[in-house]
Amino acid sequence: MRIIVCGGAGFIGSNFVRVRVREHEDQILVLDKLTYAGRRESLADIEQEPGFTFLQGAIESEQDVERALGALPGVEAIVNFAAETHVDRSIEAPDAFVRTNVLGTFTLLEAARRHSLRLIQISTDEVYGSIEQGSFNETSPLLPSSPYSASKAGADLLVQSYHRTHGLQACICRGSNNYGPYQYPEKLIPLMVLNALEGEHLPIYGDGLQVRNWLFVTDFAAAIGRVLEAGAAGEVYNVGGPDECANIDIVRQIVALTGAAETQIEHIRDRPGHDRRYSLSSERVEALGWSPAVGLAEGLARTVEWYRRNRAWWEPIRSGDYRAYYERHYGRALTGS
Ligand code: NAD
Ligand code: TYD
Repeated sequence: MRIIVCGGAGFIGSNFVRVRVREHEDQILVLDKLTYAGRRESLADIEQEPGFTFLQGAIESEQDVERALGALPGVEAIVNFAAETHVDRSIEAPDAFVRTNVLGTFTLLEAARRHSLRLIQISTDEVYGSIEQGSFNETSPLLPSSPYSASKAGADLLVQSYHRTHGLQACICRGSNNYGPYQYPEKLIPLMVLNALEGEHLPIYGDGLQVRNWLFVTDFAAAIGRVLEAGAAGEVYNVGGPDECANIDIVRQIVALTGAAETQIEHIRDRPGHDRRYSLSSERVEALGWSPAVGLAEGLARTVEWYRRNRAWWEPIRSGDYRAYYERHYGRALTGS
């Protein structure tokens, strides 16, 4: 297939591109703004593959989007990963979330309509809000808690309106919490892995009993691939991971895997509006022939091993702007080991 992948230099996008280029021989053009979270280094091993092109640009810029479309003749679909993605940053500075997640998706929808392209919108379980018991399915109401999840819900509603009003061939994939290689260390798992390896504190929000439904990133990439190949236009597909786990238990497993000390764990002020639990039912995407291959214990071990072996990927991040973000958000500096 010929696909434009927006946000392909980010965590999930780069893992998706790697699988599609290597295993499906797709022609892929990545359009990415290269924000703090976007890294060409995450694509370094596939930059030379035939059929791979990179273009720096913003999804909210019609000019950049048209330039990307012009650079991939015969393009069939846009897969949109591009977003501002960190809940804590959306509480501190929501502007970019509205601009990229809402206006950016709108700009892609208009381009998809002009050029009669399919669009796969990558979304999140967070649009449903928190669920104490049971699991959300695709007809559950949207009740987002954070500016991040509200902006993603807004984008989802626009996508659905373009299908209903203009007949746009669009699908939405709502994934649960992803983890694995190339994840920026502001998110729970890579932050804890690096802090554990570097002898830093392990900052848990509140009681740490919040539950997430963990999905290994290559499993999400495979599910998105199935939706791209066989998804029905206008449908939403939930993609949940095989295991649920409380944050404190994840951190204890990371402590054990890294040989860190439990005394590094520190409970800190809770996140405002913190969702207690996420859980997805994935029956619809399973009916397309998808199932998750990697359980949490194996995925965590693989993730810790990847960060151990890939210091060259994360050391420049930990020595850059990230330090200022960390100090501002956690009220303490990273000391370095
Ligand atoms: P990420 O933050 O690692 O990467 C986002 C990418 O988008 C970066 O490469 C960044 O440079 C790019 N980008 C940001 N603004 C842009 C803009 N205006 N124009 C073009 N590119 C821009 O994010 P991720 O964790 O890989 O998430 C990818 C998608 O999956 C997002 O839409 C997110 O909402 C969704 N999602 C993430 C998770 C998760 O656990 N990480 C779970 C479910 C869904
Ligand atoms: P995060 O990785 O930010 O994903 P999301 O908020 O999108 O689920 O956080 C996962 C969980 O971990 C969430 O309950 C918040 C918690 N958390 C901490 O306890 N400490 C931290 O330093 C971070 C970043 C997250």
